[in-house]
Amino acid sequence: MISNVAVVLKFLLILFAITQIQSDNLVEGPNAENQCGLSLNESELVNNGKVVKTNEWPFLVALMYVADMKFFCGGTLISRSHVLTAAHCLQDKGQETPLTPSQFVLHLGKYNLSALYEPGSITAFPEKITIHPKWNIRQVKYDSDIALIKIYGTVPLSSNIYPACLWTSELGVRNYQTGTVIGWGVTKDQLKSQHQSIPRHIELKIVTNPVCYEDEVIASLISSRTFCAKGISGGGLYMKANVKWFIKGIILSSLHTDEEICDDESYSVFTDVTKFTNWIAKEFAIETDMTCKFDLHREMYTCYPKNLVIQQPYVKVSVMKGYHSDQRNNSDVNVFFLQRQNTSYLPHGIPELFPNLRSYCAYETNLKHIQRSDFSGFQFLTGIEISESELVNIPADTFYDVPGLKYLRLVKSQIASFDVDLFINSPNLEEFYAYENQIENLDGRLFRKNFNLERIHMSENKLKYIDLDLFTHSRKLSYVNFLDNTCISEFYPKTIYFDDFKAIIASNCSM
Ligand SMILES: *[C@@H]1O[C@H](CO)[C@@H](O)[C@H](O)[C@H]1NC(C)=O
Ligand SMILES: *[C@@H]1O[C@H](CO)[C@@H](O)[C@H](O)[C@H]1NC(C)=O
Ligand SMILES: *[C@@H]1O[C@H](CO)[C@@H](O)[C@H](O)[C@H]1NC(C)=O
Ligand SMILES: *[C@@H]1O[C@H](CO)[C@@H](O)[C@H](O)[C@H]1NC(C)=O
Repeated sequence: MISNVAVVLKFLLILFAITQIQSDNLVEGPNAENQCGLSLNESELVNNGKVVKTNEWPFLVALMYVADMKFFCGGTLISRSHVLTAAHCLQDKGQETPLTPSQFVLHLGKYNLSALYEPGSITAFPEKITIHPKWNIRQVKYDSDIALIKIYGTVPLSSNIYPACLWTSELGVRNYQTGTVIGWGVTKDQLKSQHQSIPRHIELKIVTNPVCYEDEVIASLISSRTFCAKGISGGGLYMKANVKWFIKGIILSSLHTDEEICDDESYSVFTDVTKFTNWIAKEFAIETDMTCKFDLHREMYTCYPKNLVIQQPYVKVSVMKGYHSDQRNNSDVNVFFLQRQNTSYLPHGIPELFPNLRSYCAYETNLKHIQRSDFSGFQFLTGIEISESELVNIPADTFYDVPGLKYLRLVKSQIASFDVDLFINSPNLEEFYAYENQIENLDGRLFRKNFNLERIHMSENKLKYIDLDLFTHSRKLSYVNFLDNTCISEFYPKTIYFDDFKAIIASNCSM
């Protein structure tokens, strides 16, 4: 199996990546660098295999070994501190241990690989590498051949150092749409083949997977997370949209020799960056430098995401705030909130950034979706409060990874109903507030596992039906408020007269 791969590896060229960021999808912070995809000079992409001009592709990165300063792979700058490359560059098939960050350096703004020094080119140092967890060195398939390199610090942007954007599925791809591959065109096998000193670019047409499945060797490599393009080349595949350059693919294989760079009768296979935007976004968020200031008077810890570029659509967060008892680090943040942020999703990576959070709050957001992964990985989370959002549906499993949940407030939003299984993994739930929503019915099974429930506040909804079974398991209830609903209006007994209250529900709110 491995030898079969070796044949193909011979043709492996350098890798680049693709990214699309639409400016309105970006996470913006005061110090964030959201720019990407600028092509500083429009190149004439007519002649395939044409030598690239200097400064033309400012997101190309050359990976070089520290030991001998030899070039071994290409990469793509996707933020001021991240480079996207192929996993096999850092850990090849059969290679038991990956390269370590100290074994290679990154040359940015590089053009002529043979020139030791070039004005405007800088050397950056990898701080951390993250190979996609699904990359399997023992499998023939090149699924998830993608890796992210975090650079120490941030690099200054200039005319020859500039990140590419990440292509996302919203941009779509037509069959035979053209992409541009740029690279130094090196094979992994330095002995058999020489890379060129100067990068080249070539235009390729993207073809559907069934077309390239017809080729047996190629078929052995591709997966649902790769795509094919007709032609041969060495590099990442970039596409242009709205005047910006986006990385769409990281090349993993070409079927013929790299010498035939202009042979357009064969196929190349690319890792489809579009399929990994969530993974990249998550890694970005985890690695984000936060500028956090502690305000002694208010005991508040305010964080501005510095290089947070979340390539997930509709996430836009410029400031995150948190509280902790003393000025320490992210691990000491107990309370975290987003306020007045125009974002449809919660940002990725909050559990990793603030692992010891006790309360997670979001107020006055345009939040439309919350999901299980938003709340997975916290050790001590007991409170979640989302107010003034645009939430309509809450997936049943949203809180399954928060067994310690005591206080849940989902208020002043558009929530229409609650799944009957929403709280089956919340045995500690004491307080459930969902006032000012659009709820019409309450299923009697909703709180069947919540024996510690003490307070329910659901005033100002549209309740027409309330199943009395709702209260049979929660023996500790001390406060229940259903004021201003369709079936209960002005007159509302105090909770202490629980039987009166139940009688009213029975007569007004039963089916
Ligand atoms: C772009 O390239 C053209 C020639 O190819 C050159 O005349 C022009 O000055 C370049 N522009 C920039 C901004 O480098
Ligand atoms: C690249 O650099 C080498 C070594 O300095 C030099 O000999 C060669 O001419 C350069 N190539 C180009 C295209 O500038
Ligand atoms: C954060 O501070 C705590 C002490 O409050 C310390 O134990 C921990 O190692 C620190 N973490 C980092 C990442 O500096
Ligand atoms: C929020 O973003 C959406 C789309 O990105 C935009 O249409 C809307 O005007 C924004 N709202 C505010 C309050 O900025």
